[in-house]
Amino acid sequence: MAFYTHPCPHRKHMNSVYVALAVVAALFALCPQVEGAPFPPPQFRNCRSLDGCCPPVNRKPPVPFQLPTNLPWRTRRAAQLVDAAYIAKYHRAYGLMRALPNSDPRSLYAQARMHCAYCGGAFYFPNSAYPLEIHDGWFFFPWHRMFLYFHERILASLIGDPTFTLPFWNWDNQSPIAPLGNLVPRYMSEAYWNRRPNPLYNRNRNRCALPPFLIDLNSGVGCVRMSSARSILTENNRLMYTQMVSGATTPSLFHGSTYRFRWMGGMGGGTLEGAPHGTVHIFTGNPYAKNPYDDMGNLNVAALDPLFYAHHANIDRLWEVWKGMGGRRRDLTDPDYLRSQFIFYDENKRLVSVSVRQVLSLRNLRYGYQRVANPWMNPRAFGMGVMSSDDMDMSGASMEAAKCSSLQYSDVSALVKASPLLENSGNVLSIEPLTFRVRRLDPTGSWQEILVIENIAIDWTQTAKINAFLFHPSASGSSIDCMEFFSTFAHIPEAHHRKKKGYTRSWKLGLTEKLVQLGLSQVSHAVITLVQVGSDQQIKFGSARILLED
Ligand code: C2O
Repeated sequence: MAFYTHPCPHRKHMNSVYVALAVVAALFALCPQVEGAPFPPPQFRNCRSLDGCCPPVNRKPPVPFQLPTNLPWRTRRAAQLVDAAYIAKYHRAYGLMRALPNSDPRSLYAQARMHCAYCGGAFYFPNSAYPLEIHDGWFFFPWHRMFLYFHERILASLIGDPTFTLPFWNWDNQSPIAPLGNLVPRYMSEAYWNRRPNPLYNRNRNRCALPPFLIDLNSGVGCVRMSSARSILTENNRLMYTQMVSGATTPSLFHGSTYRFRWMGGMGGGTLEGAPHGTVHIFTGNPYAKNPYDDMGNLNVAALDPLFYAHHANIDRLWEVWKGMGGRRRDLTDPDYLRSQFIFYDENKRLVSVSVRQVLSLRNLRYGYQRVANPWMNPRAFGMGVMSSDDMDMSGASMEAAKCSSLQYSDVSALVKASPLLENSGNVLSIEPLTFRVRRLDPTGSWQEILVIENIAIDWTQTAKINAFLFHPSASGSSIDCMEFFSTFAHIPEAHHRKKKGYTRSWKLGLTEKLVQLGLSQVSHAVITLVQVGSDQQIKFGSARILLED
């Protein structure tokens, strides 16, 4: 629990213990109203979508989800490691799903609309001014786990094989030894497979995201072949390290912001939600589609592409990997989070309501992930898999990212002095990088210091990407390979959706680990440089301040 968010003020100077206890009890009773509440399951009849995203209505009330005690244990395998028999099943399952009429809640079309409704501000509640949005906050991981769970149950039932699982698209695996993880598998990318139309194929994809090109987890521009991959593999590894290890040391950094019932929306996603989740979405969508970046790069149509589900299976796996990494990494325990509920159609077209609490343990859901190496965890070994490739830059590839700025200790204090403090509101990031300083709260390192950039306002229908650097004032768009790179903000466009007026987002950046890594854990101020890449919006934001988390 982060102490800065403590909802209720402590009363000091109370004379009577009894009065104090009574006050505490009263505050506890009041807190739920002050803070919000868990989300009740949305009702489809209260769905209003301008894009036709509302799922088919079902008059029967949802049945509560039961843990699947009678299902066999299932193992989701890496997409690059599956065999021909599996591919045949996988194709058959999606073939059958595509053949269902759109009005069937199990159809791919209806599944995609379900995702769209949950992310498009379509679910209204009679007693809340704001619709539900499951991205940009702490529901990101559990909601998508539920969505995939039912999607997978539907596929399994269509082919009559309860052991069937989705594969996970292992884009975080940069090993250059075939079969490659960081490619779209050919059985998903070819229009025809065994001379038949491929049900996993989707026309609306970025040519540069299809084989033989690799996925660029961060910048999302250009076509990168294995033979000319050079630093891409290393950059991808470093991004993974930043998003899973150094930048995600606490639950709130990884899971994203608190989001309670009747709030306007999630106020900012966690590290992984932005990148690589968001960046891979944008990178795989077709930039030349009528709506740029359809399908994968627009949340309202992304789930029309079967790639979506393999992408999210990897996200779901990485959640599990993150939890297993130790330190402060654990799931959230806020009761509003645990008790929030969402509804889905199951394989029998029944509506089921699931609470977040029910999906936190994979063991309870009776599935797991094939064990694969996660080489990005250890920055000193990044280069290990890379050595066999001829034109790889060995020196750079096998080491941690090098510092790019050449600041010495005296320059550091000079830089701190020369960097302005920000105003409390009205700050703008445009195409010019912006450098500023923030006063630190705990240079002793016993708390985790988190920089929060608040009230970010952009055009939510467009892409936006910001890279952040520590003590590297001359950083540019191509500096992500520097040790000073420490966080990225990535927004997936929601082409048809207009956010509520006044909707803003905040961005949390973990400072503590990065300052240690840079050998600057003693500095009084952090100097931050923000660089907008791949977009040229006038990005407005409020303050930038530091929070402490236990
Ligand atoms: Cu609900 Cu990858 O988005």
